[in-house]
Amino acid sequence: MKDRYGREIEYLRISVTDRCNFRCRYCMPEDGVIPKSHDDILTFEEMVDIVKVGIAAGINKIRVTGGEPLVRKGTVDFIAKLKRVSGIKDISMTTNGSLLAEMAVPLKKAGLDRVNISLDTLQPDRFKWITRTGCLAEVLEGMEKALDAGLSPVKVNCVISKGFNDDELEDFIYLTHHYPVHVRFIELMPLGDDEWSRNGYIPNGELIKRIKQTLKPVEGVRGNGPAVYYRAQGAIGTIGFISPLSQHFCGRCNRLRLTADGKLKPCLESDVEFDIKGVIRHGGGEEDIKRVFRMAVEAKPLHHNMVQGEYRARNRKMSQIGG
Ligand code: GTP
Ligand code: 5AD
Ligand code: SF4
Repeated sequence: MKDRYGREIEYLRISVTDRCNFRCRYCMPEDGVIPKSHDDILTFEEMVDIVKVGIAAGINKIRVTGGEPLVRKGTVDFIAKLKRVSGIKDISMTTNGSLLAEMAVPLKKAGLDRVNISLDTLQPDRFKWITRTGCLAEVLEGMEKALDAGLSPVKVNCVISKGFNDDELEDFIYLTHHYPVHVRFIELMPLGDDEWSRNGYIPNGELIKRIKQTLKPVEGVRGNGPAVYYRAQGAIGTIGFISPLSQHFCGRCNRLRLTADGKLKPCLESDVEFDIKGVIRHGGGEEDIKRVFRMAVEAKPLHHNMVQGEYRARNRKMSQIGG
């Protein structure tokens, strides 16, 4: 599927739940967001049906996200069902890692190719503070188990926020000396009208200036996303930079998002969405679902509209989009 600007859309990110066992401060309010009721959430069977139509329309890479995808019962079976659908080249997951220690082997067996783990600090107290409910040791164990299980490559997503974790750059690089992981520093996107959006942003260019170790560009890290990768001398892993604000990658955007409540989103940032669940639950068939895909692709904007210094709340929190 090509959009109006000639971009090939081949990557579908599926948020299987809006629930999460963490309450990361920049992502969710302390009380969480009101979870969608069971009926409002797509069943895994409906998701598989949507994926099949997506594949017929040109999708060939799937990422499973949340909320936290591993808190929904049945996510491992869902991966196994996806694996049996022909035409998918890559099945990946973005997770907070808290349940990976026990789930890594079953996920690998089900057919998951690889995982990206969200991890913003390597300090236990800070980790507890930012996630409100999480435990750093469990996530690090999850990362090790994911590597052992061969869910590779394992990537670590680190959203840098001024005054919170911008003093940990060298510690994260140190992680790549010890583990064959790809750490990605992500610019904090202003997705709400809140103190994180107002105060947290640091351009990745500034981080690069601060890093003392020599970083050499590397090619060939498997992925479908916007990261640019480097390697510190002697490291077994790499350091990537994802710069949605200072150097947006919208010109290469290849994705659509499916929310847990069954909406197709043309862009992470925009409130525009298309109701695919309504079409299915009113008896729509393959052609009707395909039409929704086409409309979502047609509606993809040339670029996002996030501007540092202009804050407005979006219709969904990040936890309801899946990153
Ligand atoms: P790989 O295929 O492993 O490279 O995955 P990915 O980077 O596409 O997926 P992941 O879920 O790990 O995304 C990492 C982060 O990049 C997200 O948390 C977002 O902050 C950012 N990101 C991903 N997709 C988009 C996008 O379409 N637009 C913008 N602005 N940011 C995005
Ligand atoms: N800016 C950038 N990344 C974010 N994430 C959540 N909120 C933001 C934001 N405002 C990241 C998480 C996780 C992924 C799903 O999205 O850290 O890695
Ligand atoms: Fe949960 Fe991820 Fe949001 Fe943290 S960033 S609250 S782990 S969905």
